[in-house]
Formats: sequence, C-alpha cells, structure tokens
Amino acid sequence: MYNNSFHDINITSKTFLVTGGAGFIGSNLVEYLLKYNAKKVVVLDNLATGFEENIQPYLQLPNFEFINGTICNMEDCEKACIGIDYVFHEAALGSVPRSIKNPIATHQVNATGFINVLIAARDAKVKRIVYASSSSVYGDSKILPKVENQIGKQLSPYAVSKMTNELYAEIFSKTYNMEIIGLRYFNIFGPRQNPLGEYAAAIPLFLNAILNNEAPTLNGDGEQTRDFTFVENAVQANMKAMFAENINTQGNVFNIAVGERVSLNQLIEILKKLTGASVKQIYREERMGDVRDSLADISKAKTSIGYEPKIKIEEGLKHTLDWFKTHY
Ligand SMILES: NC(=O)c1ccc[n+]([C@@H]2O[C@H](COP(=O)([O-])OP(=O)(O)OC[C@H]3O[C@@H](n4cnc5c(N)ncnc54)[C@H](O)[C@@H]3O)[C@@H](O)[C@H]2O)c1
Repeated sequence: MYNNSFHDINITSKTFLVTGGAGFIGSNLVEYLLKYNAKKVVVLDNLATGFEENIQPYLQLPNFEFINGTICNMEDCEKACIGIDYVFHEAALGSVPRSIKNPIATHQVNATGFINVLIAARDAKVKRIVYASSSSVYGDSKILPKVENQIGKQLSPYAVSKMTNELYAEIFSKTYNMEIIGLRYFNIFGPRQNPLGEYAAAIPLFLNAILNNEAPTLNGDGEQTRDFTFVENAVQANMKAMFAENINTQGNVFNIAVGERVSLNQLIEILKKLTGASVKQIYREERMGDVRDSLADISKAKTSIGYEPKIKIEEGLKHTLDWFKTHY
C-alpha cells in the first residue's frame, strides 16, 4: 500500500511518535512514515490490543524505535517524546462493549492516558499532535449526515472517553498554546485489523467468518448503517491534518470517513460477492450503546485540510480480503 504520497512535504528531516503504533491504524501510519523515509519513527505501545508482528518489519531499521510501555505511565510518555516533532496519538482501548464491561480501564487509558501524552508532548515542545477521536461522540444525535458542530449525548463510556479527549484537546491547546487536532474516525477497516476476540470490529469479524465458511453473526436486523472507511484514507487524513497550514489548531476536529453509508446486510452481500461464499448470516439481539445510523459530512476536512478519500468501500474490501487470505 501507500504507493502515492499524500502531500508534497518532505518528511526526511522530521521525527514522529506514533502511540498505539503496533495496533491497526497506528501500524498503517508507521508503514507510511517509514516508506517516505521519516528521519525517525518512535512507537509507544504496551501491546494491550496491538501486536509486535505489526511492526516486526521495522524493528531493525535505524530510524525506528519501539518502546514497549504504557501511556498510563508519565515516564514512558516522556521518554517517547524526547526529540519528537510530531505526535500521532492512536493508543486507546477501543470497543463500546469493552467500555461497558470495564469503564475504569477505558477511562484510565483513553482519558488519563491522553492527558499524559498531551503533557509529555507539551513539555517536549512537540510541534503538533493529531489524535484519534471517534464518530461515537455523535451519540444519540439523529442528524444525518453528521456535522462536526452538532453532536448528541454519548451512548457509552468509550464515547465519553473520546468526548473527553476533545474537551481536553481544546483546553490544552488554548491554555498551553499547543497545536492539537482531532480526527473523528468513522468505522475504519483494512489490513492488520484484528478479527479475533470478543471486541473485534464488524468487517474483520465477518471476513474471518466467511473465509472460514462460517456464518457471520449480526447484532440487530442488519439494517443499521455505517460509513465504512478504508485505512489508507485515514492515513491520508492524518498526514494532511499534521501538515495543514493556516487552519485552526486549537482543538479543531474533523470527520474522517468516505461520506457514503452501507448497511450491514449490504456489507455482507459485498463480502459474499468478493469471496464467492454462500454462507447465510445469523441475527441476534441489538447491542447496547451502538448507534443506529452513521454517515459523515466530510466537507470540513475536504476544505480545511484537503482530505480526499480515494478508496471506496468495495476497493478497500478487496485489499483487506487479499491481506486476510494470507494472514488468517
Ligand atoms: N478502528 C476504528 O474503526 C476506529 C474508529 C474510531 C476511533 N478509533 C480510534 O483509533 C485509534 C486506533 O484504533 P485501532 O482500530 O487501530 O485499534 P487497535 O486496538 O488496533 O490499536 C490501539 C493500539 O493502542 C495500544 N494501546 C492500548 N492501550 C495502551 C496503553 N495503555 N499504552 C500504550 N498503548 C496502548 C494497543 O496495544 C494497540 O496497539 C484508537 O484511539 C481508537 O479508539 C478507531
């Protein structure tokens, strides 16, 4: 992947920290940064939900460093920020159900860990932080498509933790004169997304089931919709947000999606078409804390940072399928 660079910025003199860089989105960012010869890429990750395998190809590179540590520990954050120009903050405990089962763990990593990263970045005089927020902050808002300044009430501890990030980002940027930008990701999917375990996301879960000739299980009637976004688009958004000039960097947030929605039933049909499988899906009860429909208005990211999602769902699923076939 990443055969085209997303900007004309030369990153060979720039140093980056990617928290959560051994995870799905983080490792895709690392892949991009190293492909375009960043001067240095540091990953801070405690492998809670990520895998060393995701960064294995880079461990021997002289411009790569893996710190096996936690954002819950300030010393680890300080160490990771030494000599860093730019921070991509991806580390978090994802999943709505995980946060309902263990809200304290979600809060400690996603909210307190976030402040640790901000403080360490502030003290290291980092130039800009781009962090992962989530479409879950829209909560019970029925407005479609979702526009950045119209959010509802969050529906889960996970969503609250991401909302907390946005509140702290704004206050820190204003109080300590920092540049901090949040990206509200909408259902990102692609290579290296973990299909295993009880908190796996829909696309890797379904793909894994279908490839193993098992019936994918859907929560609810399958008519809920999502703005599924291929990870390459998310990497592009991160790079554009990091290097955009003349934009508000004081806690600004952008929707990162494609701007099209697909129901889970439609998603299953596309996957069946791509794989040639004939399995029949199973339905079970709806899941607590889930939103019914999700669709992003991405015009703000387009006009402010020049984000232009290049890969639509079907093409993204083809790339993802190719990767899954060789890994699972
Ligand atoms: N994947 C999506 O659709 C999606 C949607 C909205 C928001 N997000 C957010 O994007 C970010 C990346 O998500 P992802 O899908 O790549 O998930 P992921 O679980 O693959 O990656 C998260 C990474 O953070 C690491 N991590 C967890 N706790 C840590 C800690 N205490 N210290 C250091 N590292 C820690 C994990 O080991 C993992 O490598 C997260 O902040 C997530 O909340 C993802």
